[in-house]
Amino acid sequence: MIYGKRIRLRAIEREDLPAFVEWLNDPEVIAGLVFHVPMSLEDEGKWFEGLSNRPAEERPLCIEVKTGEGWHMIGDMGLHNIEWTQRAAEMGIMIGDKSYWNQGYGTEAMTLLLKYGFETLNLNRMYLRVYETNLRAIRAYEKAGFVHEGRLRQALYADGKYHDALVMSVLRSEWDARKTK
Ligand SMILES: CC(C)(COP(=O)(O)OP(=O)(O)OC[C@H]1O[C@@H](n2cnc3c(N)ncnc32)[C@H](O)[C@@H]1OP(=O)(O)O)[C@@H](O)C(=O)NCCC(=O)NCCS
Repeated sequence: MIYGKRIRLRAIEREDLPAFVEWLNDPEVIAGLVFHVPMSLEDEGKWFEGLSNRPAEERPLCIEVKTGEGWHMIGDMGLHNIEWTQRAAEMGIMIGDKSYWNQGYGTEAMTLLLKYGFETLNLNRMYLRVYETNLRAIRAYEKAGFVHEGRLRQALYADGKYHDALVMSVLRSEWDARKTK
């Protein structure tokens, strides 16, 4: 497991799926994601079966928060599109338990995954795409040190109109510079 200050990242188990289905059917949670078709437990089960075919580094991880003696799952995150020659990877996150929003967990989880990517997987560039309407996510990524680097015009169609997606990234050199400050 990957441990941070208040959170840890662990592998997803089949027992986690009902919570994912609940979150992926919550319009507020998926507003910033590309899901728009209602999701069933069976759909999610098929997705889970497919995870074992993915490279180990590209399997999503549960985000858990320490609560007293135990741990409470609040969402998931992970790396995808890893390019080993470029040493680059794309990141994604969903905190599905809305009662944990705006308490710094998204920032902390992204920082922890950056640390894992740079210091364990030896990546050089970690990036993400976020819709311009997702102001909470953009702010969390800025706080985690992501730099704005581009705009994909009209990349999303939602609520009857097109929206841009922003590309944000952190380079290894920026991560190292931050650590020495
Ligand atoms: C996006 C997400 C990961 C952020 O996690 P989080 O734990 O809520 O974020 P944090 O608490 O670390 O930071 C959120 C920041 O955004 C700010 N914020 C919240 N709503 C905002 C808004 N409408 N406009 C501007 N800033 C906003 C918060 O005040 C906070 O900033 P502050 O610490 O300076 O006050 C989480 O909300 C989530 O998973 N949402 C649903 C799925 C999703 O959108 N995933 C991202 C897809 S790219």
